[in-house]
Amino acid sequence: MTDAGRHPGIKIHTLSEVVDIKGNVGNFDVKIVKKARYVNEKECTACGDCAQVCPVIRPDEFNLGLSSRRAIYSPFPQAVPSAYVLNANECLGNNPVVCSKCLEACEKKCIDFHMSDETFTEHVGTVVVATGLKPHDPRVLDEYGYTRFENVLTSLEFERLVNAGGPTQGELLRPTDRKQPKKVGFIQCVGSRSARRGKPYCSNTCCMNTVKSTLVLKEHYPDMSVKVFYVDIRAFGKGFEDLYTRSRRQGVHYVRGLPGHVEELPDKSLRVAVENVGTGLLDYYELDMLVLAIGIEPAESTNRLQEMLGLQLTSDGFFLEAHPKLQPVDAATRGIFYAGCAEGPKDIKESVTQASAAAVRAIRLMQSDQITAEAIVSEIDPELCNCCGKCAQVCPYNAITVDPKNKIPAKVATAACAGCGTCAAECRFGAITMNHFTDRQIYDQIDAMLEEGAKEKILTFACNWCSYAGADYAGVSRLQYPPKARVIRTMCSGRVDEDFIWHGFKKGAPIVLVSGCHIGDCHYIDANHWTVKRVEKVRKKMEKKGIRPERLQLEWISAAEGVRFAGVINRMEELRQTVSEKEIAESIALLEK
Ligand code: FES
Repeated sequence: MTDAGRHPGIKIHTLSEVVDIKGNVGNFDVKIVKKARYVNEKECTACGDCAQVCPVIRPDEFNLGLSSRRAIYSPFPQAVPSAYVLNANECLGNNPVVCSKCLEACEKKCIDFHMSDETFTEHVGTVVVATGLKPHDPRVLDEYGYTRFENVLTSLEFERLVNAGGPTQGELLRPTDRKQPKKVGFIQCVGSRSARRGKPYCSNTCCMNTVKSTLVLKEHYPDMSVKVFYVDIRAFGKGFEDLYTRSRRQGVHYVRGLPGHVEELPDKSLRVAVENVGTGLLDYYELDMLVLAIGIEPAESTNRLQEMLGLQLTSDGFFLEAHPKLQPVDAATRGIFYAGCAEGPKDIKESVTQASAAAVRAIRLMQSDQITAEAIVSEIDPELCNCCGKCAQVCPYNAITVDPKNKIPAKVATAACAGCGTCAAECRFGAITMNHFTDRQIYDQIDAMLEEGAKEKILTFACNWCSYAGADYAGVSRLQYPPKARVIRTMCSGRVDEDFIWHGFKKGAPIVLVSGCHIGDCHYIDANHWTVKRVEKVRKKMEKKGIRPERLQLEWISAAEGVRFAGVINRMEELRQTVSEKEIAESIALLEK
């Protein structure tokens, strides 16, 4: 942190909040609100004279409330910049003069009660999202008595207690009597691996954090009785199994089973009831201190940032990477990268690795003045553009700008466009052309496929990344299915224009199948949500026109689902057999009216 603070190429904005981000790769405008510090950070030497005279005492957030601080304080010992900050909500203030003791105590006259929040914009080429995590709050489900018993601590509070710079200078003391505990227990998976009691995923770090804590305890207090209540210890990673073995060898007792009940005894120690999975017996343990190994949750700012940047989230609420194996630090939107727990729970080593990778990926992109873009991008004809703004609304990458109020036609930022084609499919004025997979190409394919024996064909649109690959997989796996499907590839199911569907029916297609990646798996963030809406809309129109809406089908097929593709085509064939020649002729007549 100090190195970063001193680096000439790094600007750190502390006490700052990103309130808006606009633009795309190479051209992001980040709007920032910098909160007033009320202390001139350039002049302050962090001598601490101000804090010594400040009469306001508040819990210290850095030590999780285990110690106190003043209303003017240094957030933590290595804080950058090395300057004090004044919490205006806690300060008694000097207007009207109530206190202002700090003002008098500061020799360098760094304190300024008239400072105000500042808003400014930074222009950057790439963005690394490193918003960190939110620790699980054990108060939500108080099953282990965290809110009732003072000697029940979280693993973070325990960390502060055993830290040499912590409130007790590293000495482990019970909060109730400030005596050294003789028996300490750890409960694993608090808030993790249970949808009912927190989050369904494994928080990745808690097991090894506990193993490390037990080793610290055994090193400092060899006679201390240490117990760990766990479901299973996940000690994967270099050297982790060794640490776990060392912890056991040093006498830490690992009990397989999570406590069902915790009660406080008159001397403030704790009685824990555990069903030992190994023996099947209900065991009771008396402990002086209980530590809850709390899990990791997505940071509070995640959803706001996701909306601002148009990013994707996993079902667990963390940011979703562009590809888990090939682009593990990239967001689907070009020029945005992830580092640390923003992308999922991870330990320090993994976070540093990912942050280094993200920094290099960002630098690589910015080192030249030019960006190579894929040729498959959209182009807008300003003459045809009606400035309705629909294209900008549906673009998953915020690559289109348009000003409907001032009638300024839409414009595509080519570097940001990924070529899904959703904008082209939604534009009702024919103003958008896709380079490759053009409308003309697709219409010609429909015409060619349905030229002869249209009644026998299943007109199928398949997205390039999943469904088309699924069809391919069915083929190479030699799966048997009726040879009726005629597949037209589009980059994304979002590219399937409503007019392609109508054109197919007009040409005599008995069934039109639109297929794409499963929801949440679309390779263009959430473009297939627009596919769902569009198909629903067309079905309603079909119903109104007197055409059976079942003749238009939507299916999600992944690249690995060759069997599913074959199954879907079998079903489509059954459906096709229910469509008579008379029905097709009637619908053609209805559509040509
Ligand atoms: Fe497959 Fe969007 S890429 S549906």
